[in-house]
Amino acid sequence: MRYLQLLNGDKIPALGLGTYLSPPDQVERAILSALDAGYRHIDCASIYGNEREIGVALRKAFKQYPREELWITSKLWCDAHKPDDVLPALTRTLENLGLDYLDLYLIHWPVALKSGVDFPQKPDDYLTLEEVPLRDTWRAMEHCADKEIVRNIGVSNFSIKKLTALLRIAAIPPAVNQIEMHPYQQQQAQVAFARKHNIILTAYRPLASIGTPIKTTDGCNPPPLLNHPLIMTIASKHNCTTAQVLLAWLLQQGVVAIPKSVHPERIQENFKALDVCLDRNDMIAIKELDIGARIIDGTTFTGHNSPYTLENIWDGEC
Ligand SMILES: NC(=O)c1ccc[n+]([C@@H]2O[C@H](COP(=O)([O-])OP(=O)(O)OC[C@H]3O[C@@H](n4cnc5c(N)ncnc54)[C@H](OP(=O)(O)O)[C@@H]3O)[C@@H](O)[C@H]2O)c1
Repeated sequence: MRYLQLLNGDKIPALGLGTYLSPPDQVERAILSALDAGYRHIDCASIYGNEREIGVALRKAFKQYPREELWITSKLWCDAHKPDDVLPALTRTLENLGLDYLDLYLIHWPVALKSGVDFPQKPDDYLTLEEVPLRDTWRAMEHCADKEIVRNIGVSNFSIKKLTALLRIAAIPPAVNQIEMHPYQQQQAQVAFARKHNIILTAYRPLASIGTPIKTTDGCNPPPLLNHPLIMTIASKHNCTTAQVLLAWLLQQGVVAIPKSVHPERIQENFKALDVCLDRNDMIAIKELDIGARIIDGTTFTGHNSPYTLENIWDGEC
Protein backbone atom coordinates (compact mmCIF):
# COMPACT_ATOMS: atom_id res chain seq x y z
CA MET A 1 0.00 0.00 0.00
CA ARG A 2 1.11 3.56 -0.69
CA TYR A 3 0.33 6.31 1.87
CA LEU A 4 -0.05 10.09 1.78
CA GLN A 5 0.84 12.11 4.86
CA LEU A 6 -1.63 14.56 6.38
CA LEU A 7 -0.63 17.71 8.27
CA ASN A 8 -0.95 16.01 11.68
CA GLY A 9 1.38 13.21 10.56
CA ASP A 10 -1.38 10.62 10.00
CA LYS A 11 -0.98 8.57 6.84
CA ILE A 12 -3.96 7.94 4.59
CA PRO A 13 -3.79 4.88 2.32
CA ALA A 14 -3.72 6.15 -1.27
CA LEU A 15 -6.22 3.57 -2.50
CA GLY A 16 -9.50 2.90 -0.74
CA LEU A 17 -12.70 0.96 -1.37
CA GLY A 18 -15.80 3.05 -2.17
CA THR A 19 -19.15 1.87 -0.80
CA TYR A 20 -21.76 4.11 -2.47
CA LEU A 21 -24.47 1.86 -3.97
CA SER A 22 -22.83 -1.24 -2.49
CA PRO A 23 -25.96 -3.22 -1.57
CA PRO A 24 -26.16 -3.97 2.17
CA ASP A 25 -26.23 -7.72 1.47
CA GLN A 26 -23.06 -7.55 -0.66
CA VAL A 27 -20.94 -4.98 1.16
CA GLU A 28 -19.56 -7.39 3.78
CA ARG A 29 -18.06 -9.66 1.12
CA ALA A 30 -16.70 -6.58 -0.72
CA ILE A 31 -14.95 -5.29 2.39
CA LEU A 32 -13.49 -8.61 3.45
CA SER A 33 -12.20 -9.33 -0.04
CA ALA A 34 -10.76 -5.80 -0.28
CA LEU A 35 -8.83 -6.27 2.98
CA ASP A 36 -7.67 -9.64 1.72
CA ALA A 37 -6.42 -8.00 -1.48
CA GLY A 38 -4.42 -5.43 0.53
CA TYR A 39 -6.78 -2.44 0.85
CA ARG A 40 -6.58 -0.67 4.23
CA HIS A 41 -9.01 2.18 3.56
CA ILE A 42 -12.82 2.09 3.38
CA ASP A 43 -14.87 5.11 2.30
CA CYS A 44 -18.33 5.22 3.91
CA ALA A 45 -21.17 7.71 4.42
CA SER A 46 -24.34 7.66 6.50
CA ILE A 47 -26.44 8.46 3.41
CA TYR A 48 -25.25 5.27 1.66
CA GLY A 49 -27.52 3.32 4.01
CA ASN A 50 -25.08 0.45 4.54
CA GLU A 51 -22.96 1.50 7.52
CA ARG A 52 -24.55 -1.09 9.83
CA GLU A 53 -23.58 -3.89 7.42
CA ILE A 54 -20.09 -2.39 7.03
CA GLY A 55 -19.89 -2.50 10.84
CA VAL A 56 -20.60 -6.24 10.75
CA ALA A 57 -17.77 -6.70 8.23
CA LEU A 58 -15.39 -4.56 10.30
CA ARG A 59 -16.08 -6.54 13.46
CA LYS A 60 -15.04 -9.68 11.55
CA ALA A 61 -12.04 -7.87 10.06
CA PHE A 62 -10.74 -6.78 13.48
CA LYS A 63 -10.14 -10.45 14.37
CA GLN A 64 -7.40 -10.34 11.74
CA TYR A 65 -6.37 -6.69 11.35
CA PRO A 66 -5.60 -4.27 14.20
CA ARG A 67 -7.89 -1.19 14.21
CA GLU A 68 -4.91 1.16 13.73
CA GLU A 69 -4.03 -0.58 10.44
CA LEU A 70 -7.35 0.40 8.86
CA TRP A 71 -8.45 3.85 7.68
CA ILE A 72 -12.19 4.46 7.92
CA THR A 73 -13.78 7.60 6.49
CA SER A 74 -17.42 8.62 6.88
CA LYS A 75 -19.44 11.71 6.04
CA LEU A 76 -21.91 14.04 7.73
CA TRP A 77 -25.13 14.18 5.73
CA CYS A 78 -26.72 17.52 4.81
CA ASP A 79 -29.60 17.11 7.29
CA ALA A 80 -27.24 17.32 10.29
CA HIS A 81 -25.38 20.57 9.58
CA LYS A 82 -26.84 22.40 12.57
CA PRO A 83 -24.03 22.48 15.16
CA ASP A 84 -26.09 20.59 17.75
CA ASP A 85 -26.79 17.82 15.24
CA VAL A 86 -23.17 17.09 14.23
CA LEU A 87 -22.00 15.10 17.26
CA PRO A 88 -25.21 12.97 17.38
CA ALA A 89 -24.80 12.20 13.64
CA LEU A 90 -21.18 11.17 14.15
CA THR A 91 -22.16 9.10 17.20
CA ARG A 92 -24.79 7.25 15.13
CA THR A 93 -22.23 6.52 12.42
CA LEU A 94 -19.73 5.25 15.01
CA GLU A 95 -22.41 3.00 16.54
CA ASN A 96 -23.40 1.62 13.13
CA LEU A 97 -19.79 1.00 12.14
CA GLY A 98 -18.99 -0.41 15.59
CA LEU A 99 -16.03 1.96 16.02
CA ASP A 100 -14.67 4.15 18.85
CA TYR A 101 -13.25 6.65 16.39
CA LEU A 102 -13.12 7.51 12.69
CA ASP A 103 -9.92 8.29 10.85
CA LEU A 104 -11.66 10.96 8.82
CA TYR A 105 -15.07 12.66 8.95
CA LEU A 106 -16.16 14.89 6.04
CA ILE A 107 -18.94 17.42 5.51
CA HIS A 108 -20.52 15.55 2.56
CA TRP A 109 -21.91 18.58 0.66
CA PRO A 110 -21.95 22.35 1.19
CA VAL A 111 -25.75 22.13 1.32
CA ALA A 112 -28.02 22.13 4.40
CA LEU A 113 -31.31 20.25 4.64
CA LYS A 114 -33.90 20.03 7.41
CA SER A 115 -33.37 17.28 9.96
CA GLY A 116 -34.55 13.89 8.68
CA VAL A 117 -34.47 14.86 4.97
CA ASP A 118 -32.35 12.46 2.91
CA PHE A 119 -33.02 14.06 -0.48
CA PRO A 120 -35.06 17.25 -0.94
CA GLN A 121 -38.58 16.76 -2.35
CA LYS A 122 -40.19 20.14 -1.56
CA PRO A 123 -39.14 23.75 -0.87
CA ASP A 124 -39.54 23.29 2.88
CA ASP A 125 -36.86 20.56 2.95
CA TYR A 126 -34.04 23.08 2.52
CA LEU A 127 -32.11 25.24 4.95
CA THR A 128 -30.03 28.07 3.55
CA LEU A 129 -26.34 28.60 4.28
CA GLU A 130 -27.38 31.87 5.93
CA GLU A 131 -29.53 29.87 8.37
CA VAL A 132 -26.81 27.24 8.94
CA PRO A 133 -23.45 28.71 7.92
CA LEU A 134 -20.73 26.24 6.96
CA ARG A 135 -18.40 27.86 9.52
CA ASP A 136 -20.80 26.85 12.32
CA THR A 137 -20.92 23.27 11.04
CA TRP A 138 -17.12 23.31 10.85
CA ARG A 139 -16.84 24.48 14.49
CA ALA A 140 -18.95 21.48 15.49
CA MET A 141 -16.68 19.20 13.40
CA GLU A 142 -13.68 20.69 15.25
CA HIS A 143 -15.41 19.97 18.54
CA CYS A 144 -15.69 16.29 17.48
CA ALA A 145 -11.96 16.28 16.64
CA ASP A 146 -11.20 17.79 20.08
CA LYS A 147 -13.12 14.91 21.67
CA GLU A 148 -10.80 12.50 19.78
CA ILE A 149 -13.64 10.48 18.28
CA VAL A 150 -12.38 11.51 14.87
CA ARG A 151 -8.68 11.83 14.06
CA ASN A 152 -9.07 14.09 11.00
CA ILE A 153 -11.82 16.31 9.62
CA GLY A 154 -12.41 17.51 6.09
CA VAL A 155 -14.95 18.37 3.43
CA SER A 156 -16.36 17.07 0.19
CA ASN A 157 -17.68 18.85 -2.90
CA PHE A 158 -16.24 22.16 -1.66
CA SER A 159 -15.21 24.78 -4.23
CA ILE A 160 -11.96 26.69 -3.86
CA LYS A 161 -14.01 29.72 -2.81
CA LYS A 162 -15.67 27.78 0.03
CA LEU A 163 -12.36 26.20 1.07
CA THR A 164 -10.71 29.61 1.15
CA ALA A 165 -13.45 30.96 3.41
CA LEU A 166 -13.15 27.90 5.66
CA LEU A 167 -9.37 28.16 5.91
CA ARG A 168 -9.79 31.74 7.13
CA ILE A 169 -11.81 30.74 10.19
CA ALA A 170 -10.66 27.18 10.85
CA ALA A 171 -8.82 26.36 14.07
CA ILE A 172 -8.25 22.92 12.52
CA PRO A 173 -7.78 23.26 8.74
CA PRO A 174 -9.60 20.71 6.57
CA ALA A 175 -7.26 17.75 5.97
CA VAL A 176 -9.06 16.45 2.88
CA ASN A 177 -11.42 17.60 0.12
CA GLN A 178 -13.20 14.69 -1.58
CA ILE A 179 -14.28 15.63 -5.11
CA GLU A 180 -15.22 14.04 -8.43
CA MET A 181 -12.05 13.49 -10.44
CA HIS A 182 -11.23 11.51 -13.59
CA PRO A 183 -9.75 12.41 -17.00
CA TYR A 184 -12.99 14.13 -18.11
CA GLN A 185 -12.96 16.25 -14.92
CA GLN A 186 -9.31 16.82 -14.07
CA GLN A 187 -9.81 19.51 -11.41
CA GLN A 188 -6.49 21.19 -12.15
CA ALA A 189 -7.29 24.30 -10.09
CA GLN A 190 -8.26 22.13 -7.11
CA VAL A 191 -5.04 20.12 -7.47
CA ALA A 192 -2.94 23.31 -7.40
CA PHE A 193 -4.94 24.78 -4.48
CA ALA A 194 -4.70 21.55 -2.47
CA ARG A 195 -0.91 21.39 -2.95
CA LYS A 196 -0.52 24.99 -1.84
CA HIS A 197 -2.61 24.50 1.30
CA ASN A 198 -1.51 20.97 2.25
CA ILE A 199 -4.96 19.53 1.65
CA ILE A 200 -5.16 15.95 0.41
CA LEU A 201 -7.54 15.43 -2.50
CA THR A 202 -9.58 12.25 -2.68
CA ALA A 203 -11.06 11.40 -6.08
CA TYR A 204 -14.57 10.00 -6.13
CA ARG A 205 -16.22 8.45 -9.24
CA PRO A 206 -12.62 7.68 -10.36
CA LEU A 207 -13.77 5.24 -13.05
CA ALA A 208 -16.49 7.61 -14.30
CA SER A 209 -18.43 4.49 -15.20
CA ILE A 210 -21.88 4.92 -13.69
CA GLY A 211 -24.53 7.62 -13.69
CA THR A 212 -25.76 9.93 -16.38
CA PRO A 213 -23.74 9.70 -19.61
CA ILE A 214 -21.31 12.56 -19.89
CA LYS A 215 -22.35 15.35 -22.27
CA THR A 216 -20.10 18.05 -23.66
CA THR A 217 -21.27 21.64 -24.17
CA ASP A 218 -21.69 20.93 -27.90
CA GLY A 219 -24.08 18.04 -27.08
CA CYS A 220 -21.64 15.19 -27.89
CA ASN A 221 -21.48 12.06 -25.77
CA PRO A 222 -17.85 11.09 -25.25
CA PRO A 223 -17.29 7.34 -24.68
CA PRO A 224 -17.18 5.91 -21.15
CA LEU A 225 -13.59 6.23 -19.96
CA LEU A 226 -13.32 2.48 -19.34
CA ASN A 227 -13.77 2.03 -23.13
CA HIS A 228 -12.00 5.15 -24.33
CA PRO A 229 -9.61 4.44 -27.26
CA LEU A 230 -6.75 6.42 -25.69
CA ILE A 231 -7.15 4.74 -22.29
CA MET A 232 -7.34 1.35 -24.06
CA THR A 233 -4.11 2.09 -25.98
CA ILE A 234 -2.29 3.08 -22.79
CA ALA A 235 -3.65 -0.03 -21.03
CA SER A 236 -2.37 -2.36 -23.73
CA LYS A 237 1.02 -0.60 -23.73
CA HIS A 238 1.38 -1.32 -19.98
CA ASN A 239 -0.29 -4.70 -20.17
CA CYS A 240 -2.95 -3.65 -17.69
CA THR A 241 -6.68 -2.81 -17.71
CA THR A 242 -8.34 0.53 -18.44
CA ALA A 243 -9.58 0.74 -14.82
CA GLN A 244 -5.98 0.40 -13.67
CA VAL A 245 -4.88 3.21 -16.01
CA LEU A 246 -7.58 5.53 -14.65
CA LEU A 247 -6.59 4.79 -11.05
CA ALA A 248 -2.83 5.01 -11.72
CA TRP A 249 -3.43 8.42 -13.33
CA LEU A 250 -4.84 9.68 -10.00
CA LEU A 251 -2.32 7.95 -7.74
CA GLN A 252 0.60 9.39 -9.73
CA GLN A 253 -0.69 12.89 -9.05
CA GLY A 254 -0.67 12.26 -5.29
CA VAL A 255 -4.47 11.98 -5.22
CA VAL A 256 -6.26 9.32 -3.17
CA ALA A 257 -8.59 7.10 -5.25
CA ILE A 258 -11.58 5.21 -3.84
CA PRO A 259 -13.03 2.99 -6.59
CA LYS A 260 -16.17 1.08 -5.63
CA SER A 261 -16.86 -2.50 -6.56
CA VAL A 262 -18.71 -5.38 -4.96
CA HIS A 263 -16.94 -7.95 -7.16
CA PRO A 264 -13.81 -9.54 -5.62
CA GLU A 265 -12.09 -9.90 -9.01
CA ARG A 266 -12.59 -6.19 -9.82
CA ILE A 267 -11.60 -5.22 -6.29
CA GLN A 268 -8.29 -7.07 -6.83
CA GLU A 269 -7.90 -5.64 -10.32
CA ASN A 270 -8.34 -2.09 -9.01
CA PHE A 271 -5.84 -2.69 -6.20
CA LYS A 272 -3.18 -3.70 -8.70
CA ALA A 273 -3.31 -0.16 -10.14
CA LEU A 274 -0.70 0.53 -7.44
CA ASP A 275 1.76 -1.48 -9.57
CA VAL A 276 1.07 0.46 -12.80
CA CYS A 277 3.49 3.23 -13.69
CA LEU A 278 2.32 5.61 -16.41
CA ASP A 279 5.00 7.53 -18.27
CA ARG A 280 5.22 11.23 -19.08
CA ASN A 281 3.73 10.72 -22.55
CA ASP A 282 0.71 8.90 -21.08
CA MET A 283 0.12 11.72 -18.60
CA ILE A 284 0.41 14.37 -21.35
CA ALA A 285 -1.98 12.47 -23.63
CA ILE A 286 -4.57 12.00 -20.85
CA LYS A 287 -4.41 15.72 -20.07
CA GLU A 288 -6.08 16.34 -23.45
CA LEU A 289 -9.23 14.47 -22.35
CA ASP A 290 -10.32 17.12 -19.83
CA ILE A 291 -13.74 18.51 -20.75
CA GLY A 292 -14.63 19.72 -17.24
CA ALA A 293 -17.60 17.35 -17.14
CA ARG A 294 -19.24 16.43 -13.87
CA ILE A 295 -21.27 13.25 -13.52
CA ILE A 296 -22.41 14.16 -10.00
CA ASP A 297 -23.29 17.75 -10.72
CA GLY A 298 -25.36 18.67 -7.66
CA THR A 299 -28.75 18.84 -9.42
CA THR A 300 -30.13 16.67 -6.58
CA PHE A 301 -30.08 19.88 -4.55
CA THR A 302 -31.34 22.42 -7.08
CA GLY A 303 -34.99 21.45 -7.63
CA HIS A 304 -38.23 22.31 -5.75
CA ASN A 305 -37.52 26.07 -5.43
CA SER A 306 -34.18 25.39 -3.84
CA PRO A 307 -32.00 28.21 -2.53
CA TYR A 308 -29.13 26.22 -4.08
CA THR A 309 -28.13 26.55 -7.73
CA LEU A 310 -25.34 24.88 -9.66
CA GLU A 311 -23.66 28.29 -9.70
CA ASN A 312 -23.73 28.74 -5.92
CA ILE A 313 -22.85 25.10 -5.16
CA TRP A 314 -19.76 25.14 -7.40
CA ASP A 315 -19.06 28.89 -7.24
CA GLY A 316 -18.39 29.01 -10.96
CA GLU A 317 -15.93 26.08 -11.03
CA CYS A 318 -16.62 23.97 -14.09
N1 LIG B 1 -18.28 12.61 -1.68
C1 LIG B 1 -19.20 12.39 -2.58
O1 LIG B 1 -20.10 13.21 -2.84
C2 LIG B 1 -19.15 11.09 -3.34
C3 LIG B 1 -19.92 10.95 -4.50
C4 LIG B 1 -19.83 9.74 -5.18
C5 LIG B 1 -19.00 8.74 -4.71
N2 LIG B 1 -18.30 8.89 -3.56
C6 LIG B 1 -17.40 7.82 -3.03
O2 LIG B 1 -16.51 7.45 -4.07
C7 LIG B 1 -16.63 6.06 -4.33
C8 LIG B 1 -16.32 5.75 -5.78
O3 LIG B 1 -17.18 6.44 -6.65
P1 LIG B 1 -18.42 5.74 -7.39
O4 LIG B 1 -18.80 4.49 -6.67
O5 LIG B 1 -19.45 6.77 -7.54
O6 LIG B 1 -17.84 5.41 -8.83
P2 LIG B 1 -16.63 4.53 -9.40
O7 LIG B 1 -15.84 3.92 -8.30
O8 LIG B 1 -15.92 5.37 -10.40
O9 LIG B 1 -17.37 3.41 -10.22
C9 LIG B 1 -18.05 2.36 -9.60
C10 LIG B 1 -18.69 1.53 -10.70
O10 LIG B 1 -17.68 0.94 -11.51
C11 LIG B 1 -17.81 -0.49 -11.52
N3 LIG B 1 -16.43 -1.02 -11.48
C12 LIG B 1 -15.57 -1.05 -10.43
N4 LIG B 1 -14.38 -1.56 -10.78
C13 LIG B 1 -14.47 -1.85 -12.09
C14 LIG B 1 -13.57 -2.41 -13.01
N5 LIG B 1 -12.33 -2.75 -12.65
N6 LIG B 1 -13.99 -2.58 -14.30
C15 LIG B 1 -15.24 -2.21 -14.67
N7 LIG B 1 -16.16 -1.68 -13.84
C16 LIG B 1 -15.76 -1.50 -12.55
C17 LIG B 1 -18.62 -0.83 -10.28
O11 LIG B 1 -19.41 -1.96 -10.50
P3 LIG B 1 -19.43 -3.26 -9.52
O12 LIG B 1 -19.61 -2.81 -8.11
O13 LIG B 1 -20.61 -4.01 -10.04
O14 LIG B 1 -18.13 -3.96 -9.75
C18 LIG B 1 -19.53 0.41 -10.17
O15 LIG B 1 -20.65 0.29 -11.05
C19 LIG B 1 -18.07 5.77 -3.91
O16 LIG B 1 -18.36 4.40 -3.79
C20 LIG B 1 -18.16 6.55 -2.64
O17 LIG B 1 -17.51 5.86 -1.58
C21 LIG B 1 -18.34 10.07 -2.88
